[in-house]
Amino acid sequence: MKLLLIGANGMLARDVIEAFHGTHELVTCDHPDIDIRQADSVTAFIKCHRPDWVLNCAAYTDVDGAETHPDLAFAVNADGAGILARACREQKARLCHFSTDFVFDGNARTPYRETDPAVPLSVYGNSKLAGEQRIQDTFDDYLIVRTSWMFGRGGKNFITTVCRLAAENPDVRVVDDQRGSPTSASDLAAILRVALEKNLHGIYHACNAGVCSWFELAREAVALSGIDSRVVPVSTSQMPRPARRPAFSAMDCTKISRDCGLQIRHWREALRDYIAQL
Ligand SMILES: NC(=O)c1ccc[n+]([C@@H]2O[C@H](COP(=O)([O-])OP(=O)(O)OC[C@H]3O[C@@H](n4cnc5c(N)ncnc54)[C@H](OP(=O)(O)O)[C@@H]3O)[C@@H](O)[C@H]2O)c1
Repeated sequence: MKLLLIGANGMLARDVIEAFHGTHELVTCDHPDIDIRQADSVTAFIKCHRPDWVLNCAAYTDVDGAETHPDLAFAVNADGAGILARACREQKARLCHFSTDFVFDGNARTPYRETDPAVPLSVYGNSKLAGEQRIQDTFDDYLIVRTSWMFGRGGKNFITTVCRLAAENPDVRVVDDQRGSPTSASDLAAILRVALEKNLHGIYHACNAGVCSWFELAREAVALSGIDSRVVPVSTSQMPRPARRPAFSAMDCTKISRDCGLQIRHWREALRDYIAQL
């Protein structure tokens, strides 16, 4: 299987590259060699490499920044996804694309399934949902994987930020009224490899098992890191942010577990491994 990974400098990409290393042919690229907003360069790249799969790890991922830069968020996350889908259709490649739990409004009481209606609250969520729709409107040879609350070795993330703040301060305030499912980028990359090898198609949810609040996740990360700082639970209204986030965005991963034949482990176990490697 030959894969072309776009967005190679991102957090998820780093673990995907590792997961595929040595088992499949993998070509990687990122800014400035390729910009997914530029149809000509995207088509030329795919035509030149003739991959079986294009993996799109490129995205505009600044959730709060998207509120002030909606044009950029839509250009990358929506138009860019459409451009990739059209180029893949032309070149007969399959497209694997990533989306987010932030396509949901958070009013559910049980983890979201792939068939549940998506109603984003933020510009970022809307741009990612528009990207999913552009792909689905273009062709059928796609795999869209929605994930959530990701931590990985390839970039700054909630865990590294909260541990840095905890090391610098006696108290760290973290919201306790937003709940979701943390995801290890390395666990997701391992699931992805099986999903591509099995030629899965359609929309899938993929995150680690278990549900927690950001506060509970932060408390666990600080304790595992052995940092002597107090993590203090606060409400969203006490820590206003530019983008609205869903109060509950856990996703049901039954479909990907069943179709890949995998048991996905609990986020606590994945976090322990991640912190041990930091
Ligand atoms: N991180 C999470 O918690 C999370 C949660 C749910 C879903 N997701 C989804 O998972 C995927 C991967 O996320 P991530 O956290 O690994 O992202 P990331 O670390 O922000 O990496 C994104 C990469 O895309 C590149 N990029 C941005 N605009 C581009 C363009 N126009 N053309 C080509 N490359 C471009 C970035 O390059 P520059 O840095 O040079 O701009 C960066 O290397 C995304 O689809 C994201 O929406 C992430």
